[in-house]
Amino acid sequence: MNDTISSETRFLHAVEFGLGAWQWGDRLIWQYGQAYKDEDCRAAFEVSLEAGIRFVDTAEVYGNGRSERMLGQFLKETEQPVLVATKFFPFPWRLTKKSLIKALGRSLERIGVETVDLYQIHQPFSLISIENLMEAMAEAIKDGLTRTVGVSNYNQSQMLRAYSALARKDVPLASNQVSYSLLNRAIEKDGLLARCKELGVRLIAYSPIEKGLLTGKYSAENPPPGIRAQRYGSLLPKIGPLLKLMTQFGQEHGGKSKAQVALNWCICKGALPIPGAKNARQAEENAGALGWKLTEEEMAKLDEASDAILK
Ligand SMILES: NC(=O)c1ccc[n+]([C@@H]2O[C@H](COP(=O)([O-])OP(=O)(O)OC[C@H]3O[C@@H](n4cnc5c(N)ncnc54)[C@H](OP(=O)(O)O)[C@@H]3O)[C@@H](O)[C@H]2O)c1
Repeated sequence: MNDTISSETRFLHAVEFGLGAWQWGDRLIWQYGQAYKDEDCRAAFEVSLEAGIRFVDTAEVYGNGRSERMLGQFLKETEQPVLVATKFFPFPWRLTKKSLIKALGRSLERIGVETVDLYQIHQPFSLISIENLMEAMAEAIKDGLTRTVGVSNYNQSQMLRAYSALARKDVPLASNQVSYSLLNRAIEKDGLLARCKELGVRLIAYSPIEKGLLTGKYSAENPPPGIRAQRYGSLLPKIGPLLKLMTQFGQEHGGKSKAQVALNWCICKGALPIPGAKNARQAEENAGALGWKLTEEEMAKLDEASDAILK
């Protein structure tokens, strides 16, 4: 393991895979309450635990707190240890460092725990400076409210500011959670992924199956529901050749699905993918990304096919 990784954050580098919990309670993007309900989310959680997944990512804003409450309920129903990550949303009315400690307190209440394993700043746009936010994060660790701290959607310079501000308090920056998939490789091109590795910051990949696109179930003729259709309107007609290659490589690895290939690709790149799942079937399929590896040659060919789409 990289010797820039601090002992406090080492556990996160040992986590290979996680479960995203935005879907738990979100009606706006994910249609929670229609196509799937609490029981489906519970089943997704249970199936993930059975598959050995021990890291769940939620946020105070997911389902307006519902995701955190559901996670709290599910945690009570299991004896398995689960690593919990949640997030602070820097709303414009949050103007002081105190607001972070207060928000974390409310997250802990909803989840029903005394401390979380990772507390992240959800996004960089905030009326509180990065330095002040990081001071509050260091305080949260000191108060025992979180084990480690991270950021999300921070670019390289924002991340470096956070890293340095925390370093002044002797606190390591544990992670940066950003969008990363075969259909979104900005962090490879702009150097963020490499910088994370260099600094020992765990890169957590959100939307690793590009919100369902990399499962191959959507196409220009059959777009995803809701606002995803508009967002991906111009991308969908181009992804056929990549999906074909993913099918081929999946077959060569004993019948792995496209979703499993997409997630395995993230792992092979050194990222920690946290796919969201609405039900047991999706969670079970996603967990099948573990226990095998794409070859270097397959990775290179997938990169080439993705480059041809993203150029
Ligand atoms: N920090 C941030 O700003 C941020 C932003 C976004 C997400 N996140 C985190 O990252 C997690 C994952 O990202 P994401 O939810 O945006 O995207 P994702 O994981 O790429 O896609 C999840 C969606 O894909 C579909 N799906 C998942 N597994 C499937 C399977 N095996 N077969 C078929 N369809 C499947 C489901 O939607 P359908 O069935 O409706 O297609 C599911 O809701 C979130 O839960 C959240 O924890 C963080």
